[in-house]
Amino acid sequence: MIMGDLRLFADSDALNYAAAQRWAQLAEAAISARGKFHIALSGGSTPRALYRRLANPDFANRIAWDRVYVYFGDERNVPPDHADSNYFMAKDALLNHVPIPPAQIYRMEGERENIHEAATSYAQLLSSRLPMSAQGVVQFDLLLLGLGPDGHVASLFPGTPVLHERARLVEAVFVEKLQTWRITLTLPVIDHARHVLILVDGLKKAPILRDVFSARTAPPPYPVQLITPQGVLEWYVDKEAASLLPETLRS
Ligand code: 6PG
Repeated sequence: MIMGDLRLFADSDALNYAAAQRWAQLAEAAISARGKFHIALSGGSTPRALYRRLANPDFANRIAWDRVYVYFGDERNVPPDHADSNYFMAKDALLNHVPIPPAQIYRMEGERENIHEAATSYAQLLSSRLPMSAQGVVQFDLLLLGLGPDGHVASLFPGTPVLHERARLVEAVFVEKLQTWRITLTLPVIDHARHVLILVDGLKKAPILRDVFSARTAPPPYPVQLITPQGVLEWYVDKEAASLLPETLRS
């Protein structure tokens, strides 16, 4: 059983337009209700087109960027100007093109020698800047995720101990299959977001989406299946990524 609402789109453009609209709508609601919009960005390649779409004037002018506070769902073990940096990608595709105060962009310092200290520092930053959910967990207004071909989200990879972390908000994790360190938000933070938006785009993601949405019997569950959303969880999927889903889910 998978949590959330599945929304299908004809192609990438339609998916990213709808996701930009959702961002704008949630930002407006958060800012009018609480004066700020706290968002955790996803890395990887999928959201780049969404970030570029948001940088277009038709959206950029709809959002009160001076009330937007940007965080990250995960980061690689690289400097902020490295091609693999999620921060670098978001800056290049969006943050350099909108009037968001630089002091309102909070990157994970993946390059730090002691990556565990970087994770602890980021958790302290979240605790000091984010509102809390009713259960006392830091709460994002919107948390963006991509989906890896192995069912990972953020840097919550299959078989890693961080999947079982229920107390700490941010963890450094060594990813054997990539032979690299990552910093990632933990599942409690994802669970307690007011709105989680998972973007799945392209034919390459069709097999994992089929598996994630099938009534899989063989444990262990994919990391994305471990999310127990306390708020709204939406899947924005394009037709290609949805092409192996059962007809009942595609109608
Ligand atoms: C990262 C992301 C990661 C990503 C998935 C999907 O740091 O790589 O946070 O979780 O969302 O791996 O990646 P693509 O969008 O590149 O397919």
